Amino acid sequence: MQKIHVDLDKDSYDIHIEHNCLTQVGNLIKEVYKGEKVFIITDRNVDEIYGAILEENLRDNGFEFEKYVLVPGEKSKSFSTYEDICDCLSEAGITRSDMIIAFGGGVVGDIGGFAAATFLRGVDFVQIPTTLLAQVDSSVGGKVAINLKSGKNLVGNFYQPKMVVIDPNLLKTLSDKTFNDGMAEVIKYGCIRDQKMFAELEKCYGRQDVMDNIEGYIYTCCGIKSIVVANDEKEKGERMLLNFGHTLGHGIEKYFNYEGYTHGEAVAIGMVRITEVSERLGYTGSGTAERLKILLNNLKINYCFPEMDKENFDKTIMLDKKAASGNMSIILLKDIGKAEIVKIKRVDIKNYY
Ligand code: GLY
Repeated sequence: MQKIHVDLDKDSYDIHIEHNCLTQVGNLIKEVYKGEKVFIITDRNVDEIYGAILEENLRDNGFEFEKYVLVPGEKSKSFSTYEDICDCLSEAGITRSDMIIAFGGGVVGDIGGFAAATFLRGVDFVQIPTTLLAQVDSSVGGKVAINLKSGKNLVGNFYQPKMVVIDPNLLKTLSDKTFNDGMAEVIKYGCIRDQKMFAELEKCYGRQDVMDNIEGYIYTCCGIKSIVVANDEKEKGERMLLNFGHTLGHGIEKYFNYEGYTHGEAVAIGMVRITEVSERLGYTGSGTAERLKILLNNLKINYCFPEMDKENFDKTIMLDKKAASGNMSIILLKDIGKAEIVKIKRVDIKNYY
């Protein structure tokens, strides 16, 4: 079992990573929870395939549980689902000394974490991420949220889990599209902080090659994220590096009403386009965008910048929630493995795509 410690004083926790560790989860949870009552938040797909394994293990370890199963997909990250979850937590008699388990991908982690952060002003929770995107990124670092009609993740909090349990075996049942959604984030970590992992990924020609060392890649990504989050939990500085490719990516996702592109696909497009521009401006070492494109191509991840109405896209980008008034921060690569935060005038973002 590989273990990473996220060092956040009283909010510190461990990330456990091991093939098949879903079958040990009850024992692991006992390290951080002495009670008996747990409430599982999951989605229908995960519940159908893996629910029984989790439940059997919890039962074997003496836990009682109730569960809420949501409809898979981003639309579930809504106020109405959140309200429904809270009503169910209340009906189940969950108190502040019980434990919530978020068992699923990014949607479950975000809304489950948000419910945990706010129900009774905070109940402890454990993340068991089941998609690659959640295993390498969203389950670590405490960002929890739900969506508004006007945009994604606009109501949320920073609320750290008590533990993250990552079983790479669960990735085997993901569709290629969902797997690639997470791969874009894996590549992002290589771009911003780890040229060695990027070089290893350059030797991969498809999902199976990546899966051969998936535990190592997850470990590297979570290791980078744990350091960044420990240094800057609330995203005042260094944590912004994790947004490489995201300013354009969020704009693309939003422009297409969150239906045309997955988060990872949009981030891949954003990483390539901003690196092509920064290379042309002389900020990024030459050949960097080409290396990124070849890697994405080998892993069959689309990076073609979509046809969009320029004026509408400009407006979408400038309304990004990460844009501070007047100025905004963008992330540029100096080279593979080395990223920097660059402050620009908000209106100048147009020059970066
Ligand atoms: N997904 C980026 C972050 O957690 O900050």
